[in-house]
Amino acid sequence: MMALLEVSDLVVGYDAFPVLHGIDFTVEEGELCVLLGLNGAGKTTTVSTVAGLVKPRSGHVVFDGKDLGRRSPSARVAGGISLCPEGRRVFPRLTVKQNLRLGAWTRRRQSKAVQRQLELVYDYFPRLAEREGQLAGTLSGGEQQMLAVGRALMSRPKLLLIDEASLGLSPTVARTVWEVTSRIKQDGTTVLMVEQNAGALPFADRALIMEKGTLVYTGVGDELRDVNLREAYLGA
Ligand SMILES: Nc1ncnc2c1ncn2[C@@H]1O[C@H](COP(=O)(O)OP(=O)(O)OP(=O)(O)O)[C@@H](O)[C@H]1O
Ligand SMILES: [Mg+2]
Repeated sequence: MMALLEVSDLVVGYDAFPVLHGIDFTVEEGELCVLLGLNGAGKTTTVSTVAGLVKPRSGHVVFDGKDLGRRSPSARVAGGISLCPEGRRVFPRLTVKQNLRLGAWTRRRQSKAVQRQLELVYDYFPRLAEREGQLAGTLSGGEQQMLAVGRALMSRPKLLLIDEASLGLSPTVARTVWEVTSRIKQDGTTVLMVEQNAGALPFADRALIMEKGTLVYTGVGDELRDVNLREAYLGA
């Protein structure tokens, strides 16, 4: 295994306000990594910086062996990084299928490959296939979350970033989304998923726990099944 994503000494702030105080972590190729933390810890800031939506003050984001420097968000999508943003952000007045096709914008000239990817997304989320012609704004919260994940998959990322997929979902629907995420990983897409919900831990190969812009815990494998971990860091 090699690190698909390597973040080092990353310092990020908004105006004068510092948020990430120099964080280091890696995500190995083929892993599902979960980044856990409470409100305001800096999780969204972290994945937004990896996606190129926020510019760091200093530090490095190395993806697939290349330092991304100041590369634009769209260049990062073309290079294999895709973000499913916090709050879903589906286009409410477009249909499910139109939302999905927009996710494949960087590959829009490869119509056969886009069609195959659409079928793969429908295989992960059969509910989306049933509702392909429905306006996204009329979907349930859980269905909108599935659409947001599906849209992010349409660019065929090597690294899929998912920001708080479980927020506002029932435990059952949250579980479904995590199970599908686990399948997406098994099919070869590396995943970095942000969560506040420690229920995501059993699905992870690696966990990072963030407090106030600092990583206070990183662990892999069976360590993550340890109940003390939840008590010590997550108050669960
Ligand atoms: N655009 C912005 N301008 C100014 N401050 C911001 C901006 N975005 C985030 N912040 C601040 O940065 C800190 C970290 O925010 P961030 O959204 O990264 O946290 P989070 O861990 O994703 O939280 P949550 O779980 O609530 O989504 C917060 O104090 C927030 O107020
Ligand atoms: Mg957030």
